Amino acid sequence: MIRPAELIQRKRDGGELDADELRDLILGYARGDVPDYQLAAFCMAVYFRGLSSAETYALTQAMIASGTTLELGAELGRRVVDKHSTGGVGDKTTLAVGPIVAACGVPFGKMSGRGLGHTGGTLDKLESIPGFRVELSRDEFVAQVREIGLAIIGQTADLVPADKQLYALRDVTATVDNVSLIAASIMSKKIAAGADAIVLDVKVGDGAFMKTLADATILADTMIDLGRRARREVVCLLTDMDQPLGRAVGNALELREAVATVRGEGPADFTELVLDACARLLALSDLGVDVAEGRRRAETAIADGSALAAYERWIRAQGGDPSEDVLSEAAVVAHVEAPHSGYVTRLGAAAVGVAALHLGAGRRTKDDAIDHSVGVVCRRKRGDRVAAGELLAEVHARDEADAAEGVRAVLAAYELAADPPPDRALVLDVLA
Ligand code: URA
Repeated sequence: MIRPAELIQRKRDGGELDADELRDLILGYARGDVPDYQLAAFCMAVYFRGLSSAETYALTQAMIASGTTLELGAELGRRVVDKHSTGGVGDKTTLAVGPIVAACGVPFGKMSGRGLGHTGGTLDKLESIPGFRVELSRDEFVAQVREIGLAIIGQTADLVPADKQLYALRDVTATVDNVSLIAASIMSKKIAAGADAIVLDVKVGDGAFMKTLADATILADTMIDLGRRARREVVCLLTDMDQPLGRAVGNALELREAVATVRGEGPADFTELVLDACARLLALSDLGVDVAEGRRRAETAIADGSALAAYERWIRAQGGDPSEDVLSEAAVVAHVEAPHSGYVTRLGAAAVGVAALHLGAGRRTKDDAIDHSVGVVCRRKRGDRVAAGELLAEVHARDEADAAEGVRAVLAAYELAADPPPDRALVLDVLA
């Protein structure tokens, strides 16, 4: 019988844990034998001391072993694809990519997560839709990928239950931004859910967990290695998260923007990332197309309405109503105005993410309910020119007091100057 306190102490002091010890700790936690406070202390020790690559692999394996696993490709007789982001602000990419890829005839099956820290989570965004079920059983998940071509679920009691618990714990104990913990969390979900090929969007910058391209590259390499050991094909896009992606930040607001993008009416930066991710997923699929042809097919699916039809089928299949009328709206919408004229030289993604969190779009403790209606819409972004008094952003809030606080926070996220900022590419690197 392991003594968790001894393992925590060894990690705290810079020692190494073997695979059996990590497995016992994680399985004990998933069974409820090891309490939250000991895992929180363990995660903090990992945060400061790190994990070796052998430990990271063992942690990932232990998390997978906390539940059952799927081989989606074998079940469907098709190559199934998946995509995952390491977490950003305004990152609703999956919500648009899934239906576009499905409309192109490629099965897409994915396990997502909830908001983490100042970043949003796909499951929370989907739950803006009344009735939408993120907890499908294993059989329901497989059947839906087979019949609808698309299913997105949360971690369950069956599939990586250890990540479900750890994820919620890390969210509120300042232990998210560690390469090994992120890699094990993401890759345990990807491997357990059973897709054959995975595009990972590794976010870089102020609003990401990895602030520099060098750190993001280490995270990408770690995940590619975990994927390779599980015989999965993994491509990592390293993408800019210095400013929010698209305009909307906040659950229902982001869902609306994702649907607009599936209709061909999305913001340029977001649409570009969605098309790039779709192109790479189609190139990894069994369609036998290259990235350029993948992109052409993704553009066609948007233009001919088949992506929107796939979106509607998917939402209905998981119990929701795809009409935007059912999405909640915030009671107060306040304006953030430019204090003087100039170019937007900076729009801090982390500051906007934290503002949305404080408005109620994210959690402060594990059991917090979130408010799907609130958030921020950034009407002006880096490089845009504004005149004094022009609208920079909207704050969608529960009441006037929250709105006033949100306006102050979002205004502080903007920097305006006389000269335009240098261009920054959206896709900074691609690793495979
Ligand atoms: N996404 C995940 O699924 N896990 C993390 O730890 C970070 C982002």
